[in-house]
Amino acid sequence: MKIKNEIDENDSAIENTIKHRNFPQVPKVIFGKGSFNQLDEILLPERKHIDAPFIFLVDDVFKNTMLAKNVPLRFNDELIFVSSAEEPKTKQVDELVGLIREKYESLPSGIVGIGGGTLLDLAKAVSLLLTNKGSAADYQGWDLIQKSSIYHVGVPTISGTGAEVSRTTVLLGPDKKLGINSDFTVFDQVILDPDLSIGVPKNQWFYTGMDCYIHCIESLNGTYLNAFSKSYGEMALELCKEVYLEDIDKQESREKLMMASWHGGMSIAYSQVGVAHAMSYGLSYLLGVKHGIGNCLVFQHLEEFYGDSVKLFNKMKEKHQIDLPSGICKELTEDDFNTLCNVALKMEPLWENALGKNWKERITREKLKSIYRKI
Ligand SMILES: [Fe+2]
Repeated sequence: MKIKNEIDENDSAIENTIKHRNFPQVPKVIFGKGSFNQLDEILLPERKHIDAPFIFLVDDVFKNTMLAKNVPLRFNDELIFVSSAEEPKTKQVDELVGLIREKYESLPSGIVGIGGGTLLDLAKAVSLLLTNKGSAADYQGWDLIQKSSIYHVGVPTISGTGAEVSRTTVLLGPDKKLGINSDFTVFDQVILDPDLSIGVPKNQWFYTGMDCYIHCIESLNGTYLNAFSKSYGEMALELCKEVYLEDIDKQESREKLMMASWHGGMSIAYSQVGVAHAMSYGLSYLLGVKHGIGNCLVFQHLEEFYGDSVKLFNKMKEKHQIDLPSGICKELTEDDFNTLCNVALKMEPLWENALGKNWKERITREKLKSIYRKI
């Protein structure tokens, strides 16, 4: 008995040496139909002085729309329209930072990103690079950022990426697609106005929503899963099912998907994504395939890893009559397939989450290539 007690004590001593992650969350969030109209009053106390503008980075699909007209510009604030046709790039961040530094003597009061994941990620990255020297590419990785960013606000206009809640900003760099993961990346304020997602094209709505669905599946089936991630992941998954499989009212659907995105993002914050994300990163890097559709293109072929969840994905796809493009990898050379595999296999935490510590024994280049060939 004495021996047993000693073993128990040793075990708990080992438990106590495990270092748990301590990560920040968005400190302020406002949710509700029409809440975008409160942006002006939210920004007012954050204005440093009359010459320190707010810079609004807005998706250029909103050019000449009511949303653009309602951006609360004051003093020398600036609205910059940015295309989200391509994945956000480190070069793009450097250019925006250069532009702002050149034009204004002092730091702006803040950056506001209005749009989908691309705009949210750009806003986060620009706010970081205004206070940290060098190129955005220097900071792709984990906790390389040294100085706190300037104040930054995220206003999602499409739901699913979880970018509004994450501590990363995923960028395409000269030699990799990787996030700037840091405590300073997290938004200071998020505005969740479900009405802003009115008018999102159906395909886009599906691909981006499925990013959230896949976050849930990869988190809930991962080896990193814990009670924190599970609670958020299960909630987000239920909301996704309601939105994509039931016939609910459109307003309710927008609200639920917005909250699914938030919860899905919270779920992966304390766990990790998995196979679809790792492989989708390869498609983005080599072919510029956007994140949401890239995940869908991969996920449909992952029954071996995610079984019934892939069947459910196909059911949702059929219900909404979504045709995914095919033949994306048809013309690729052997070198191209190797690049796809190199990028995917570099995402080690994702594989470890998906397949466990001995993931290298369970996944081969040939296996990856055989999946890519189907896309
Ligand atoms: Fe994602």
